[in-house]
Amino acid sequence: MVFDVYTLVEVTWILLPIYAANGLTPVVMRFLKGHPIDGGRMLGKNRILGDGKSWEGLFFGTFMGIVIAVVEMLAFPFLPWGLSPVSLNIIAMTPFIGFLLGFGAMAGDVVASFFKRRMGRPRGAPVPLLDQLDFLAGSFLMLSLVVVVKWEWIIMGTIITLVFHVVANVIAYKIGVKKTPW
Ligand code: CTP
Ligand code: MG
Repeated sequence: MVFDVYTLVEVTWILLPIYAANGLTPVVMRFLKGHPIDGGRMLGKNRILGDGKSWEGLFFGTFMGIVIAVVEMLAFPFLPWGLSPVSLNIIAMTPFIGFLLGFGAMAGDVVASFFKRRMGRPRGAPVPLLDQLDFLAGSFLMLSLVVVVKWEWIIMGTIITLVFHVVANVIAYKIGVKKTPW
């Protein structure tokens, strides 16, 4: 296995639509009242998914994945790939790949909430690692249906996502938009 700057470029290309889907959805949903996917229904003594999983969020996140994939598709011919001395394995972005990445992210997040509720954790209760990696797992799983996904991408994507999460939270704490640095 090789973890070099080329693998970093390859995986960043894939992470952009995924992060857009997962990262922008909570921001937009702060201003919208969503309709819960589970329709308020219970399973046992807990909600099936909870109010944190809405149809609006699911559609918006999927849409953002498509938008960013299309931006990458259009930008591709203008990017300086020639700078790389080795040939890069950059996946060809299409609206459908964007759909798989965006929908995969949102679906992975829904599956995680299903398990969180079964574990008795209320909406918004943190479950370390699951909360940070559910969407990534969903996206890579969907992507693997149509593209050969390299192990290096999965491992590097996981590390980048965990580091990014810690750094983003510390910054959010320092600038006062979050109460705790975790
Ligand atoms: N969101 C949404 N619909 C989705 C996913 C997310 O409306 N399908 C919005 C909700 O407003 C949610 C916020 O994004 O509160 C943050 O998402 P997330 O952290 O995944 O949800 P939590 O509220 O923490 O709930 P859970 O414990 O189920 O993860
Ligand atoms: Mg959460």
